[in-house]
Amino acid sequence: MAITDTKFREDDRSLDQTLRPKSWDEYIGQELIKKNLKILIQAAQERGEPIEHLLFYGPPGLGKTTLAHLISRELNAQVKVTSGPAIEKVGDLASILTNLSAGDILFIDEAHRLNKLIEEILYPALESRSLDIIIGKGPSARTIQLELPPFTLIAATTRIALLSSPLRSRFSGGTYRLDFYTEDEIKRIIARSAKILGINIDEGAMSEIAKRSRFTPRVANRLLKRCRDFAQVEKSNSITGDLALKTLDLLEIDPVGL
Ligand SMILES: Nc1ncnc2c1ncn2[C@@H]1O[C@H](COP(=O)(O)OP(=O)(O)OP(=O)(O)O)[C@@H](O)[C@H]1O
Ligand SMILES: [Mg+2]
Repeated sequence: MAITDTKFREDDRSLDQTLRPKSWDEYIGQELIKKNLKILIQAAQERGEPIEHLLFYGPPGLGKTTLAHLISRELNAQVKVTSGPAIEKVGDLASILTNLSAGDILFIDEAHRLNKLIEEILYPALESRSLDIIIGKGPSARTIQLELPPFTLIAATTRIALLSSPLRSRFSGGTYRLDFYTEDEIKRIIARSAKILGINIDEGAMSEIAKRSRFTPRVANRLLKRCRDFAQVEKSNSITGDLALKTLDLLEIDPVGL
């Protein structure tokens, strides 16, 4: 399918950012996760502590990154974003950790791609907020221990099975699996996105797009944008069911979204 090529992926990224929900109300669905997180946040805030470490997993485009940013926003916390493959050396992680301030959130995306050496540095950092660094080699090598500020790790992965079990066990705030959305939830997401993008869309079009979104918000938003393009070149000032169908046919997306 043509819409998975690089150009579209870049497009997606900026679209993701524009349409990213900024409050719990805007974050549609995943009710149980939201309920748990709200309790976790309130309890931690009442104690004046940072929230415990969290792990989000599930297929791409379901809202893991969005949740991490939403939580940071709720907490008024600064979020530092990195990813498994970006942390190549022990020194990379050491520099990230030592640059954190109290209450910061460290978001590590694609956590399944952290290498073992890095993971081992992370364990004590998560558990006892200490960073053990080995200086020198051979008999003269020594370990220095640095104390880290209180911080929260939020990790996300699409491949939970690839995460080592010692790492998995360190998410004391919980491990949350994001579920696919219902068609109705996807419709609500489309309605919200259309409003933000200033698009007129009718009920029928929302249904057609929702049906073919693979129950995934990112796909829904992407299809909505393609429909907008088509409406524009057709000089139509709104997206009707008929126009949506034509767009989806052009994209060769069948009724189940494949
Ligand atoms: N619950 C939601 N309500 C409304 N919009 C959502 C929701 N979840 C995700 N979205 C939309 O889908 C886009 C993709 O979500 P996000 O980037 O958080 O997915 P992800 O799970 O991090 O994907 P990946 O695994 O590819 O990193 C967001 O920008 C947002 O516009
Ligand atoms: Mg993400």
